[in-house]
Amino acid sequence: MKTSTPRYVKIGIAGALLIALGLTAAWFFRTTPSTIEQDLSSTTVSATDSKQIAATVQLHLPGTQPIDALIEDYDLATSIWTIVSKQYPLSDQQYRPSDLIVTGVPVMNEKSTDEKLLRSVLQADVTAMFTAAQSAGHDIVLASGFRSYSLQQRIFSGYSQSYGDIAANKFSARPGQSEHQTGLALDIAYVNRECYLAECFGEKPAGQWLAANAYSYGFVMRYPADKTTATQYQYEPWHFRYVGRSLATALHESGLTLDEARPYLQTALAELRAQKKL
Ligand code: DAL
Ligand code: ZN
Repeated sequence: MKTSTPRYVKIGIAGALLIALGLTAAWFFRTTPSTIEQDLSSTTVSATDSKQIAATVQLHLPGTQPIDALIEDYDLATSIWTIVSKQYPLSDQQYRPSDLIVTGVPVMNEKSTDEKLLRSVLQADVTAMFTAAQSAGHDIVLASGFRSYSLQQRIFSGYSQSYGDIAANKFSARPGQSEHQTGLALDIAYVNRECYLAECFGEKPAGQWLAANAYSYGFVMRYPADKTTATQYQYEPWHFRYVGRSLATALHESGLTLDEARPYLQTALAELRAQKKL
């Protein structure tokens, strides 16, 4: 015999279900926003952290803390970590950076318009460096920044005629081999031209200040006295190269020149390519 559930029991069950549903909904809407907030706050990252997460490839120079590898192709002249040297000349003779500007730092008079230009990417750092140098009492100017292939050709052939090809190439790059063509290198001089393009600049207060402090603005002295074998150029205490603050600091701490750092840069570059970041 079929027994039917009494009506009052059905109403009771339905009521209980409705109450349970209501309580669940109330709990959900009461707790969800705070849960989301909590989740967000626990995963919020600072700008620095997010950069580190994005840049998983590191550059590790001996004796230094690893730094985040720039996500750029260092084999290209456009990269601030590019190397232009006797061994690694520019592939494009006509290369001229697209962002050359007058940065606003004092420039040497009687120089070509081109040589007063540098890449905009280093404007803030070169300005900060000149301001700090001037505050420290050093009356310096930009003597030569960007040099085109044809200007470098004229400069090198002038020195070559005066000193002979081999002697000239110890302090002057052949066209296509000068990092001045990248717009990332600059020669610095005293306004009064004391020790202009001469080794004694390194013994003067401005030369000493630059040797000690340039790295903290992203610049390295490119041809140090004790590294002529690695650089294949004479000591040039006036010639600085922009590589950005992190690499300049790592180079300073490791004591390596950019040439000596090349294998480590190439390792980082290979890793960037393997990770398809380029
Ligand atoms: N003096 C450096 C080597 C140049 O000519 O680029
Ligand atoms: Zn130079």
